[in-house]
Amino acid sequence: MSKAKSAFARLVMDWYDRHKRDLPWRHTRDPYKIWLSEIILQQTRVAQGLPYYQAFAERYSTVKKLANASQDEVLRLWQGLGYYSRARNLHACAKKVVSEYHEKFPDSYNELLKLPGVGSYTAAAIASFAFNEPVAVVDGNVFRVLARVFGIEHDIASLAGKKYFFEKANELISKDKPGVFNQAVMEFGALQCTPKNPACTSCPLARMCVANTQNLQTQLPVKLTRTKVKTRHLYYFVIKKGTQLYLRKRPSGDIWNGLYDFLVLEEKKSISTQQLFKRHNINVRAERVSKAYKHILSHQKLVVRFIEVALQATLQKHIKAGELKAYSKKQIEQLPKPVLISRYLQDVAYLQ
Ligand code: ADE
Repeated sequence: MSKAKSAFARLVMDWYDRHKRDLPWRHTRDPYKIWLSEIILQQTRVAQGLPYYQAFAERYSTVKKLANASQDEVLRLWQGLGYYSRARNLHACAKKVVSEYHEKFPDSYNELLKLPGVGSYTAAAIASFAFNEPVAVVDGNVFRVLARVFGIEHDIASLAGKKYFFEKANELISKDKPGVFNQAVMEFGALQCTPKNPACTSCPLARMCVANTQNLQTQLPVKLTRTKVKTRHLYYFVIKKGTQLYLRKRPSGDIWNGLYDFLVLEEKKSISTQQLFKRHNINVRAERVSKAYKHILSHQKLVVRFIEVALQATLQKHIKAGELKAYSKKQIEQLPKPVLISRYLQDVAYLQ
C-alpha cells in the first residue's frame, strides 16, 4: 500500500477519536439498533433523525416488537421523514428477520444484502459496525472525502464511478478496525470535509489532499447526471360528513403508498375549480378552496389545492370508486398521513 493510503486511515481515525459526536447508535453492537439508525439516517441528517431513532428504539426495543407492529403504526411513527417505501421496507425487513432468521440479523455482508431495503451501503454499515467485517461503507460523505483527498474525477452519479469509489474505499479500509474506519470517514465528511466551505485550514489531511493543494474543493466530487423533476397538479376533495372526513388508504404504484389521503383528481396544468368540476362532471358547491400548497418530493413537485365540500349525492360514485370511508377526527389524528395532509388539516384548524 502506498504511503498516502496507509496515512489516510490513520489520520482519519485519529481525527475521529478526537471529534466524533456522541450518538446513541455508537454505543451498541446490536445489529438491530445499527440497522434501525442507518435506515433512518439514509433519509435525513443526524439532528432530524435522532428523535425518530429514539422513538423507534423505545417503542420497538427488539426486532420482534417491530415485526409485530401494525403497518399503520409504523408509518405513523415514520411520518415526516418522507420516502415511505423505506418505512414499509423497514417493517418487511423486521418480519423477515423474525420469520427466516430466528429474530437474529445475519452476520455477514452477503447475507445482509438479502434483506428488504438493505442495499450495499446498509449491509456494509451493519457488517462492519456490528460484526467487524472489513467491507467499506460508501455514502455521499465518503464520495466527497475520497474524491477530494485523492483527486478522483469519476462521476459519482454513474455506475462505473460508484464502483471505482467502492473499490478505492475497500483498499483503504483498516483491517483491524473496519467499523471505526467507516464511521470515521463518514463523520469526517459530515463535520470537516463538508460540501460547502470545508475546514481545510484545520484539516489533518490538508498536506496530502489533492483538492486542498490544487484548490479544487468546489470542483470535487464530480456529479454529472441530473434527474428531471416533474410537476403534478393535484386537487383534493375534502368531503365532510358532520365532523367526519372521507379518506382512503393510498394504493401502491404511486407516491405515498399506504398513507391516507382524500379523494383526488389530477391535472396536467393548473386549472380553476369550475373547469375541474366541468371536466369531471361533478355538480357540487365548494365551501372553501385552499391556497396552492407546494410540496417537493425527490423527483416530483406537487402543486396541491384542497376543495372543501359537504357530502352530496353527486360525490357518491367517486367515494365508492375511490374506496373512501368516513373517519372521525380522533381516527384521523392516528392515521399515517402525508405531511402535506397534516399541514392542511392544521391550517384549517381541524387538527392541532
Ligand atoms: N449517517 C449515516 N450513518 C451515520 C452514522 N452511523 N453516524 C452518523 N451519521 C451517519
